[in-house]
Amino acid sequence: MSEKAIVFDRVSKSYPRYHQIMGIKNFLFHLPTAIRSLKNARYEVLNGISFEVYRGESFGIIGRNGVGKSTTLGLIAGVLRPDSGRVIVNGRISPLLELGGGFHPELTGRENIILNGVLLGMTRAEVLKRMDEIIEFSELGEFIDQPLRTYSSGMYARLGFSVIAHLDPEILLIDEVLAVGDIGFQKKCLDKMLGFKRMGVTIVFVSHSMGDIEKICDRVMWLEDKRVREVNESKKVITDYINR
Ligand SMILES: Nc1ncnc2c1ncn2[C@@H]1O[C@H](COP(=O)(O)OP(=O)(O)O)[C@@H](O)[C@H]1O
Ligand SMILES: [Mg+2]
Repeated sequence: MSEKAIVFDRVSKSYPRYHQIMGIKNFLFHLPTAIRSLKNARYEVLNGISFEVYRGESFGIIGRNGVGKSTTLGLIAGVLRPDSGRVIVNGRISPLLELGGGFHPELTGRENIILNGVLLGMTRAEVLKRMDEIIEFSELGEFIDQPLRTYSSGMYARLGFSVIAHLDPEILLIDEVLAVGDIGFQKKCLDKMLGFKRMGVTIVFVSHSMGDIEKICDRVMWLEDKRVREVNESKKVITDYINR
């Protein structure tokens, strides 16, 4: 039996639902009831899901938009808490790599690398030591000294992935971020992920590219309608998903 890096045990997660406000007059007239119903109105995304990711495994999560893939990553990263159930994570986790998350628009690419590196637990000296490598990997050239607000989404992704790629995680979480990069950079990121995989890093990878999922992942989980529709060897789940 391999060791488990991540365990979800009957995890449920909902968000507040904001848009159910009745007419303002009605709202004021029935204030206590209205407030109670507002407080209680929740939108359930995950309903008691259970799955496990083994140490060193590459695990894909697929499913339609809004099904709860990013929510699941957020729960693994610990930035979200389940309403009920347990999330157990064994290992040093990479930050949740989301487009632009953690970056500051007024700082340059270079300054953001330092900011992020430090936020992610490196010392300033460690970041500076790896700076050239990170910049080279990003291929951002002279843009590295421009403020981030001038970057395209693809350039954001380049910077984000480059910082992550030079950290030393035990568990790597990647959320769709490759999709916005150009083909050359996508390939480079996939190679980097395969490198992490060979080093025994546990990877959880969310993507709509079934080709990328198949290249990287040993097993895949298909989320549908708040639940796990299928967890299995990648090829099987991808085939079922495509032929659904
Ligand atoms: N912070 C939030 N507040 C309220 N609703 C949210 C929040 N984050 C996500 N949601 C909702 O939860 C559902 C699942 O979102 P998400 O996990 O981002 O899905 P996916 O990544 O699979 O596209 C969506 O309907 C989304 O609108
Ligand atoms: Mg998402």
